[in-house]
Amino acid sequence: MTQEPYPLYDAPDVYDQACCSFRDTAVEASGVQRIAAAHLGFEPKSVLDLCCGTAPNAADFVGLGYRYVGVDRNQCMLAYARDRYRDLGDRAEFRQGDVEALALPEPVDIATILSGSFFPHTLDGAVRILESVAGCLRPGGLFILEACIQAPEEDPTMRSEYSLEFGQRHLNVLASLSFVDGPRQLVEYRIRVDCTEGDAQRRFESVDRFRLLDPQEFLGVVAQVAALEFVGWWDGWDLSKPLDGRDRLGRRPVVALRKIAHARRRTELPNP
Ligand SMILES: C[S@@+](CC[C@H](N)C(=O)[O-])C[C@H]1O[C@@H](n2cnc3c(N)ncnc32)[C@H](O)[C@@H]1O
Repeated sequence: MTQEPYPLYDAPDVYDQACCSFRDTAVEASGVQRIAAAHLGFEPKSVLDLCCGTAPNAADFVGLGYRYVGVDRNQCMLAYARDRYRDLGDRAEFRQGDVEALALPEPVDIATILSGSFFPHTLDGAVRILESVAGCLRPGGLFILEACIQAPEEDPTMRSEYSLEFGQRHLNVLASLSFVDGPRQLVEYRIRVDCTEGDAQRRFESVDRFRLLDPQEFLGVVAQVAALEFVGWWDGWDLSKPLDGRDRLGRRPVVALRKIAHARRRTELPNP
């Protein structure tokens, strides 16, 4: 396979099979629901799913009674999601946008970034994303991020290879995370999918670069954003495992922030 890989995010059907087909999206959506039940002061009616990709959680959120808004910058992902969820009618909407410069006609009750889709290149970039999301939230609304913050004491680098079959289609998937600039904590998350269908073979690849944030740095970023306050974090979607300072974060930590009504004093970033 010598030809250039095809951009994986421009092939949403392959991406969805390779990266989402084995997820328990109902557990993820009900995790969001349980955090809302515990920490939102009103009945949530809408959820904004940022960097939604193929929107694997859209039907689950609509099933729970939310109006779903998915935002992504990739038109291929959005076209796939619109077609996939035609049956949801106006309960699900898909909009093109960049997380750093979001604009919605109406504020939402909950915003999410699921499955690690938080890609700031710097701490300032993380501040810009949080400010942009805060601008879309109703006062009191929650911003819930999953697998976006580095778990302390864990080696962030990883390499995972697996195979999947879908009828005549065979996928070999290699996902890896490696450092590209250690001192700046800049990493690269690469997903390579080799797809074989009959005699046809094709390679797909996505590369997302981002700055790792450990919990302390993330709290420093939150402190920079006047409109958000920290609510709590949990070990995965298990709300019976709040972090009390003794436990370590799991590999897929969940963190919740709340939009506050009144701006407060800005503080300095701890490690600019
Ligand atoms: C890993 S995929 C989708 C993950 C999705 N959240 C899920 O749960 O399956 C990451 C997505 O983020 C989108 N993306 C990356 N950077 C973005 C940005 N700055 N603004 C909007 N979308 C972005 C990509 O187009 C891609 O569809």
